Amino acid sequence: MADERGPGDPDGGDESRRDGLEGIIGASPAIRDVYGLTRRVSERSTTVLLTGETGTGKELIARAIHGLSPRASGPFVRVNCGALSESLLESELFGHVKGAFTSAHENRTGRFEAAHGGTVFLDEIDSVSYTLQVKLLRVLQEQEFERVGDTKTIQVDCRVVAATNRDLLEEIDEDRFREDLYYRLNVIEIVLPPLRERQSDIPLLVDHFLQRYVVPGREIPTVAPETFDVLAAYSWPGNVRELENYVERALVLTDGATLVPEAFPAHVRGLAPPRIGRTEVGELDRLCGQLVAAGLREVGGSETGIHPRIVSLVERQVIRQVLHACQGVQTKAATRLGINRNTLHKKISEYGLEEDVR
Ligand SMILES: Nc1ncnc2c1ncn2[C@@H]1O[C@H](COP(=O)(O)OP(=O)(O)O)[C@@H](O)[C@H]1O
Ligand SMILES: [Mg+2]
Repeated sequence: MADERGPGDPDGGDESRRDGLEGIIGASPAIRDVYGLTRRVSERSTTVLLTGETGTGKELIARAIHGLSPRASGPFVRVNCGALSESLLESELFGHVKGAFTSAHENRTGRFEAAHGGTVFLDEIDSVSYTLQVKLLRVLQEQEFERVGDTKTIQVDCRVVAATNRDLLEEIDEDRFREDLYYRLNVIEIVLPPLRERQSDIPLLVDHFLQRYVVPGREIPTVAPETFDVLAAYSWPGNVRELENYVERALVLTDGATLVPEAFPAHVRGLAPPRIGRTEVGELDRLCGQLVAAGLREVGGSETGIHPRIVSLVERQVIRQVLHACQGVQTKAATRLGINRNTLHKKISEYGLEEDVR
């Protein structure tokens, strides 16, 4: 199980290990594209925007870009822009001088200065306020800024890598993100594919995490084939991070030499509804609001009949998307949806989805 190569892919793992991408696992075409771009952008100081759902490996790639670059011996400084309020973030990034605000008892060097000669990784860039975005734009364009409360201009030599799990074009449409900053950041975009779109990497990743989390001296359990089937059918909203957590958990729960599906939570096995995160609840709430509003308009202000109509609207979309994700294979889609094949068959004709079936 120490071998990270996938079947039919004789040098996938090796290739990544040779050139500074070690620890980044995967041999699927999608992740290979990411390796290629990562290598290419590392040579220069080009600004890079990493996009992808949470847990897809954006930070891992940001570190690799730095590590492979001529700046590797310089600092790598990560700032989680989503974790700080606007004023704290401003002083975190640019520093401040004593007396700039009530709690500024000392001069403070900002993260951009700390990253001089290296790389700044701006994680969750979408959370930066509109005003602060202007200041960021200037750093990107002129490589200069002032500390909060100071007039002296500071010059820095930093490479910027930014990451987001949101669609910045949508943020621009809603006036939450500046278009000019977007184009500055997005010189090169690397899109991290969700795990559900590179299922073939799951066995490699499972192996990798088993090796990482096995208690030293204990034998690494073998993975039962049905476990891989279960893992392939799950949608992995938390992506590689979620898989990593569940493999670690499964190791704790396994005494035997084999990792069985029961070592994974019920919702991963399709036996319980998936846990939904706060972001998804928010999005869902917004969408439901729109659907209800549209439904009310259509039925002329009376509320009768909205429920079944909206439920079937949503159901139809869910079935369509799952069919797509399963390349139109009905048995696979039925497993993933957690409904039986006949039910799926009926719904396909009810909703006129025959064209989405292979
Ligand atoms: N391709 C990969 N190979 C190995 N580990 C990965 C890979 N992608 C992500 N991980 C692991 O998953 C977790 C989440 O990755 P991270 O880079 O923090 O994701 P993101 O920043 O997109 O949320 C980390 O523990 C990371 O090491
Ligand atoms: Mg992250």
